[in-house]
Amino acid sequence: MSFNIAIDGPAGAGKSTIAKKIAAELSFIYVDTGAMYRAMGLLFLRKGIDPKDSAAIEAAALEADVTIGYENGEQQVYLNGENVTASLRNEEVGNMASATSIYPGVRRQLTALQKEMAANQDVVMDGRDIGTAVLPDAQLKIYLTASSHVRAVRRYEELKAKGIEGDLAVIEADIIERDQRDMNREISPLRRAEDAVEVDSSNMTIEEVVETVQRLCKERRGV
Ligand code: DC
Repeated sequence: MSFNIAIDGPAGAGKSTIAKKIAAELSFIYVDTGAMYRAMGLLFLRKGIDPKDSAAIEAAALEADVTIGYENGEQQVYLNGENVTASLRNEEVGNMASATSIYPGVRRQLTALQKEMAANQDVVMDGRDIGTAVLPDAQLKIYLTASSHVRAVRRYEELKAKGIEGDLAVIEADIIERDQRDMNREISPLRRAEDAVEVDSSNMTIEEVVETVQRLCKERRGV
């Protein structure tokens, strides 16, 4: 049986940074489920579909074939055969992914792919509903969070490092709006699974969070 680690939490809490490090350390496969919702979001943007038009979104989702591959250990996302990985990490796509992840047709397809990936291999999977809906039997569940202000500052610094001057207040407002949407949708909203360990990274370094997760992992694996 495979050993699965589920990491859920709000946008900007550091899930992917932590999940990647843990996966590399344990030689597990890292699965970024947000990238799958982003690939769907990219398709809807390209088609110019209004995210509130549920019928059009559901119909387009039926035509979408999202698959995952790995190149040099890095996850690649394919949308109808095209590698779209480089087009996924921007606010427009992220907001479209958040707005359209409320629809059953979108979630059904991606959840099935995620479950299949974790069934036969050891994975560290991050997202919003991994511990609650995708991998309810995961051997270790982490709910990684941080205050909206800390998450906004982190994103602001990330942008600055790329030479982009962001507006901290706008970034924080955007993060709060995304949290509201992800936590209040009807199907599989973001919430901490009852058996998840909550880690608040607001006042922790990346190394401290990684150490905490590693310790929990050793306990669960009995090594
Ligand atoms: O983690 P991210 O920012 O790449 O995710 C983008 C959006 O996708 C997020 O705002 C909500 C949605 N999502 C989801 O509904 N369920 C997941 N397991 C992962 C992401």
